[in-house]
Amino acid sequence: MSQIQLDTVARHRPFLKWPGGKFRLLSHILPHLPQKQCLVEPFVGAGSVFFNTVFPQCVVNDINPDLMNLYQYIQIVGTACLDHFESFFQPKNNNARRYYQLRTQFNTTTDAQDKAALFLYLNRHGYNGLCRYNNKGLYNVPFGYYVRPYFPHKEILHFLELSQKSKISLRCAHFSDVIREAPRGAVIYCDPPYVPLSKTANFTGYYHPFGLEEQIQLAESACLAVKRGCTVLISNHDLPITRELYRPAKLMTFSVQRNISCNSKKRVKVGELLALYMP
Ligand SMILES: C[S@@+](CC[C@H](N)C(=O)[O-])C[C@H]1O[C@@H](n2cnc3c(N)ncnc32)[C@H](O)[C@@H]1O
Repeated sequence: MSQIQLDTVARHRPFLKWPGGKFRLLSHILPHLPQKQCLVEPFVGAGSVFFNTVFPQCVVNDINPDLMNLYQYIQIVGTACLDHFESFFQPKNNNARRYYQLRTQFNTTTDAQDKAALFLYLNRHGYNGLCRYNNKGLYNVPFGYYVRPYFPHKEILHFLELSQKSKISLRCAHFSDVIREAPRGAVIYCDPPYVPLSKTANFTGYYHPFGLEEQIQLAESACLAVKRGCTVLISNHDLPITRELYRPAKLMTFSVQRNISCNSKKRVKVGELLALYMP
């Protein structure tokens, strides 16, 4: 069987909700990731792609330290983290007053274990799975008003199983360092914050700003990685500028239904671009 799980195999959902998560697009992405020794994900987010592949070695990176602290805590503590995490998923914690108390606790604690448990709590109880910080670096997503937030027990177990099967290195660095240091011949899947569809739609919502300069830097990093025998696949919106940025790559397009505003009634078809750089 291929290392990559194709359509006939059930998909594994990540344990976090994540803006721009690729779970629904896996059937378009996975067939372009060849079987190699090492997968590198410089923008892992909730890890939809990484969760649905089995490579002997994985380098999993994101610039968001709260996210990487959570992965690291689960990896170190193992199944013992489950009770700690689940203790926050109780009806008494599912109201606005308690949510804002716990959000303040998250923003003030320096304890890595509490930070990890609270990050998962906030992700599942906050509005629309957003991950947003104000300019002081404080997490500021409002309460989500879900009837019964889901505790992702089996999804966390899946991450732990993957950690048994593969050698997973967790990093919290800038994507350019991670791509530059990728092992020779690695497969690198890049899912950066997308180029905005319009000048007003400049939502990033992530930990770190990501502008045109970073988009250009990513395209350049991909070309350099190919010279070291790596295969690089990049996802982005299908726009004239992304076609220009990824000109040296093989380009593939498809369209997806997306909510592009906070008003979930505004669903539009958006073009997706996959740029494949091969050695
Ligand atoms: C589109 S999301 C990735 C979603 C992920 N593929 C999934 O399925 O859940 C983009 C990620 O890039 C991260 N990011 C933003 N700027 C970065 C940078 N300079 N270096 C590394 N990661 C960055 C964000 O924190 C965010 O998690």
